[in-house]
Amino acid sequence: MDRAAFRLILWGCFLFSVSSSPSLRTQNVDVYSFHINSTVTSRYATTTIRSRVANKLNESQEILFEVKIPKNAFISKFRMIIEGTSYDGVVKEKAEAQQQYTQAVSRGQSAGLIKSVGRTLEEFKTSVTVAALSKVTFELTYEELLKRRLGKYELLINAQPMQTVTDFKIEVHIHEKTGISFLEVKGDLSTDDLTNAIKTARADKDAWVTFYPTRDQQTKCKTCGENGLNGDLLITYDVERQNPNGEMTVSNGYFFHSFAPSDVSRIPKNVVFIIDRSGSMHGKKMEQTRLALLKILSDLGENDHFGLITFDSRVDLWKRELLKATQANLEDAKSFVKKIADRGATDINAAVLEGVNMITRHPREGTTSILILLTDGDPTSGETNTEKITGNVKEAIGSKFPLYCLGFGYDVNFDFLTKMSLENNGVARRIYEDSDADLQLQGFYDEVAVPLLTDIQLNYIGVSNLTQTSFNLYFNGSEIVVSGQITDNSVESVTTEIIAISKGSKVTYRDTVTAKDVSDVQAEHDNFLERLWAYLTVKQLLDRQVLLKGPEKEASRKEALNLSLKYQFVTSLTSMVVTKPQENQTEVSDKPKEGESPDRPPAHRPVSHGFTLVGSAGWIPDDPPMVGAHFRPARIDSIQIDDPPSDITDEVWMDIDSTDIWELASVSSTQSAPAIRFLIPADGQPKPLCFDVALPLKLKLLQDFASEFSMNGESMGSTNGFHQIIIRYKTNHQLTINTNSISYYDGQNNVQYLWGQEPTQHSQVGIYLILRSSELDVTMGNIRVVILLHKKNGDVFLWPAIRQQPKGVTLAGILGKADISYAEIQGSNTSTLKIMDKDVMVSLADVTDYRFPFAPVFKCWHVPFKAVMNGDISDFTVTQL
Ligand SMILES: *[C@@H]1O[C@H](CO)[C@@H](O)[C@H](O)[C@H]1NC(C)=O
Ligand SMILES: *[C@@H]1O[C@H](CO)[C@@H](O)[C@H](O)[C@H]1NC(C)=O
Ligand SMILES: *[C@@H]1O[C@H](CO)[C@@H](O)[C@H](O)[C@H]1NC(C)=O
Ligand SMILES: *[C@@H]1O[C@H](CO)[C@@H](O)[C@H](O)[C@H]1NC(C)=O
Ligand SMILES: *[C@@H]1O[C@H](CO)[C@@H](O)[C@H](O)[C@H]1NC(C)=O
Ligand SMILES: *[C@@H]1O[C@H](CO)[C@@H](O)[C@H](O)[C@H]1NC(C)=O
Ligand SMILES: *[C@@H]1O[C@H](CO)[C@@H](O)[C@H](O)[C@H]1NC(C)=O
Repeated sequence: MDRAAFRLILWGCFLFSVSSSPSLRTQNVDVYSFHINSTVTSRYATTTIRSRVANKLNESQEILFEVKIPKNAFISKFRMIIEGTSYDGVVKEKAEAQQQYTQAVSRGQSAGLIKSVGRTLEEFKTSVTVAALSKVTFELTYEELLKRRLGKYELLINAQPMQTVTDFKIEVHIHEKTGISFLEVKGDLSTDDLTNAIKTARADKDAWVTFYPTRDQQTKCKTCGENGLNGDLLITYDVERQNPNGEMTVSNGYFFHSFAPSDVSRIPKNVVFIIDRSGSMHGKKMEQTRLALLKILSDLGENDHFGLITFDSRVDLWKRELLKATQANLEDAKSFVKKIADRGATDINAAVLEGVNMITRHPREGTTSILILLTDGDPTSGETNTEKITGNVKEAIGSKFPLYCLGFGYDVNFDFLTKMSLENNGVARRIYEDSDADLQLQGFYDEVAVPLLTDIQLNYIGVSNLTQTSFNLYFNGSEIVVSGQITDNSVESVTTEIIAISKGSKVTYRDTVTAKDVSDVQAEHDNFLERLWAYLTVKQLLDRQVLLKGPEKEASRKEALNLSLKYQFVTSLTSMVVTKPQENQTEVSDKPKEGESPDRPPAHRPVSHGFTLVGSAGWIPDDPPMVGAHFRPARIDSIQIDDPPSDITDEVWMDIDSTDIWELASVSSTQSAPAIRFLIPADGQPKPLCFDVALPLKLKLLQDFASEFSMNGESMGSTNGFHQIIIRYKTNHQLTINTNSISYYDGQNNVQYLWGQEPTQHSQVGIYLILRSSELDVTMGNIRVVILLHKKNGDVFLWPAIRQQPKGVTLAGILGKADISYAEIQGSNTSTLKIMDKDVMVSLADVTDYRFPFAPVFKCWHVPFKAVMNGDISDFTVTQL
C-alpha cells in the first residue's frame, strides 16, 4: 500500500485497528462529488461539506473522510449514507461517549478523531468500510459565529478532497440585513489559475460566492498536485452600520444585537509591554519580537503613553515612568528595543507586578490602560507557583485595566496565561512560531490599538437568558454582540440601552425597535437566531470555566453541557459517537483543546492558513448595489419572427432599427412584449448592465471558432429563459438540452439523461459532463458552461452560465462579452452612461441573475441592445438551433 501518497499523520494512540487501516489507493477510490455549502446570516455561519465516494474495487475496502474545519466552530451534524441507509453521529456527554468508545476499543475497533492542525483549523477524520463497487456519502455540518476583527469578518473554508474531483463546488451565501459594505475573496485557492473559477454576486443585503474549479484547474493551483486541490478560500466582508445604537435582529423569540460604533473619538492609552527575554527566546523569536516592537512603537498615537519592561530572572525597565509617545521618546525606546538580548530564566511574577506598578503610580484622567505580556515559557524564576502568580496579579490590577497575554510557541503554559488574562478582563492569544510571528504580534496590537469606549453596559427590557452584557473595553474594528430570548413573544418592540464611558464622560445609546419588522430572514433559517444564541452562550460558559470554582463552576458546566446536547454541538464537554454499519463499530470524536500541540513538530506545519494570507492577491467582486425604481422594458410588439426564412430576418431587424430602438428602450411602459433579459457584468462598476431581446427567438449564445464550440438557445414564450439549448463541439459532438431531458451524441453513440435523476457524469478526452439535480456542468476543451434548470411560477426554463472561457478573448455570441466598462455621466440624473465613447440613455431596471441556482435579483442599467453588443440582434440570431 502506497502510504507516502497520502498526507496521513499517525493518529497516536487512536490507531488501534492497524489491520483494517483505510484503503488509500486513489485509483481504487473515486471522489466523484465534493460540495461545500456555507450560509451566513447575521454573522452566523452554517457550513456543510458533502463528499460522495465510490469504491471502484470489486471487493470491500475502508474509505476515509477527512476534512478541516475552523477551530472556533462546533460540529453539529455528521452523517454517512451507505446503500440508502443513513448513519447519523449522535452527540453525547463525554464520559458516556468514552464508555461506549472503550467498549468498542476492547472489541478491537477503531475510533475517529478531531485533531488540531495549524493555527486556525481542526481536522475531522473518519472511515467506513464500503462494499465492492458501492458508494458512500459523507456529510458534515459545522456552525460558528464570525467574530469581527480589524474591521472585518472572515469565513474560512478549507477544501481538500484528496484527489481531483469531477463535480467540485463551493457555494457561499451571506445575508446581512443592514447591507454588506465590502466583500473580498482571498486565500490560496483564489490565486493564479483558479481565480476564474470563482464567481461573486452581490445585492446590497446578500452576497454569493461560488467556486467551480475544473479537473484541470484542480491540479494547477499553487498548493495542489497529484492529489487535487488543497487550500483555503477566505471570504472577508463587513456590514453597513447606519444605526449608531447598534442593530437588532429578532426572529422566533430570540434576538441578536450588535454594536460597533466607529465615530467615537479615540481614548488616549497607557500601554506597557512586558517582554520575555529568557534564554528560550534565543534566536529567531527574539529577532521577530524586536521587529514587531519597532513597528508597534511607530504606530503609537501621539497622545498615548507607553512603557517597556524586559525580563528574565531580572526585570529591566526602559524608563521608570510611562512616557508620552513623542518622536524623541520613540527614538530612544527603539534603540532600547534593538538592544534587547536573550539571557537567563523567566520571572513572570516580578515583571508583571512591575508593569502594574508603572501604570497605577500615575493615573491619567480620561485615558485607558493596557498591559501586554509576551512570554514563551513557564515561570522558572522568582515566584514559580502559577496559582500564586495569578493571585498576586489579580490583586494588584484590581480590575482597573486589562492584561493581555501572548504565548509565543508551544512551550508556554497556555492554561495559566488564559486564566491570568481572563481574570483581568483580557484575553490570551497564541503566537505561532513561524516566519510571520512578527506580523502576528503586530496584528494583535492593531486589534487593541484604538480604544473607543470603556465600561460598556448593555441593558434590555423584556428579555431573558442573555449572553454577556458588560464589557471592559471596546476597540475600533471589533464588535460587541449580545443575544438572548424575548420573554414575551407578543411584545411589539424591544428597548435597548447602552451606557459607556468615552474619554472620561458618560455616553448613552438608546433605541426602540419594533420586534415585528426586524425579522428579515428567509424561512429555511428560521431557527438560526436560536442556534446563534446557543452557540454564544456555550462559548462564553466554557470560557468562564477557568474563572469559577466549586458549585458555581459545576452549575455553569452543566448548563453548557445541557445546551451542547440540546443543540448537538461537539464542544469540550461532548463527543460525537458514530456507529458504523459493520458489526456496530463505534467511533468517538472529541473537540481538541486550544493549546494542545499539533501532531507534527511546528516546523512542519503547513503554512497555508491564517496569517500567511496577509498580502495575497485580492479578488475584486462584481458590485451591484440596489437603489431606485422598477423598470419595465419597452413594448416592441411589431416584431414577430416565428421561424422566419433567413432572407427576411435582416429586413425585419433593419426595420426595428429605423424605428429607433434607443428611444423605445427608455420609454417606460407597464405593458411589455415578451423578452428575455440578459445581464452583462460591469467590472468595478456599481451596477451591471442589462438588455432585452424580444421573443420568440433563436439565439447564438456563444461561439469559439478556434475550438469549434458553439452554443445556441431557443425560447418559445418564456420571458425568463430558454426551452432548448444545443451545444456543438468539434465535428461530431452534439449536446441537446431541453427542459425534460438531455441527450448527448458523441459521433457514434447517443446517451440520454433526465433532469432530476440520480447525479451522473460522463467523461472522455476533453469532455466532461456532470449532471446534478438541476445543473448540467459541461466542459468541452477550454470552455466550461453550466446549464441551470430553473423553475419559477410554473415556468420551467434553462439558463446558461459561462464558467470558463479562454482568457482575454471576446467570443462570438450574445454571452461572448465577458464584461464591459462604462461611466455614469455626472450632472444629469444618471440616466446617461458613457459606454464605449457613446452617450447612452439608460433606465434603472431589475434583472434576475439566473447564472446562480439561487437567482439573485439586481438593479441594473437597462441599455439598448446596440449600445453594448456591437451589432444588431440579427447578428446574433440563427435560423436553426
Ligand atoms: C445550500 O444551503 C442552502 C441553505 O440551506 C440551500 O438552500 C441550498 O440548496 C444548498 N445548496 C446545495 C448545493 O446544497
Ligand atoms: C476482482 O477482479 C479481479 C481482476 O479483475 C478478478 O481476478 C477477481 O476474480 C475479481 N473478484 C471478484 C470477487 O469478483
Ligand atoms: C475606526 O476605524 C474606521 C475604519 O478603519 C475609521 O474610519 C475610523 O476613523 C476609526 N475611528 C477612530 C476613532 O480611529
Ligand atoms: C430562559 O429563561 C427562562 C426564564 O425567563 C427559563 O425558564 C428558561 O429555562 C431559560 N431557558 C434556557 C434554555 O436556559
Ligand atoms: C440539564 O438537563 C437536565 C435533564 O435534561 C436537568 O435535570 C438539569 O436540571 C439541567 N441543568 C441545567 C443547569 O439546566
Ligand atoms: C448491532 O446492534 C444491534 C442493535 O443494537 C443488535 O441487535 C445487533 O445484534 C448488533 N450486531 C452485532 C454484530 O453486534
Ligand atoms: C431626468 O430625467 C428625466 C427623464 O427621465 C428628464 O425629463 C429630466 O429633465 C431629467 N432631469 C435632469 C435634471 O436632467
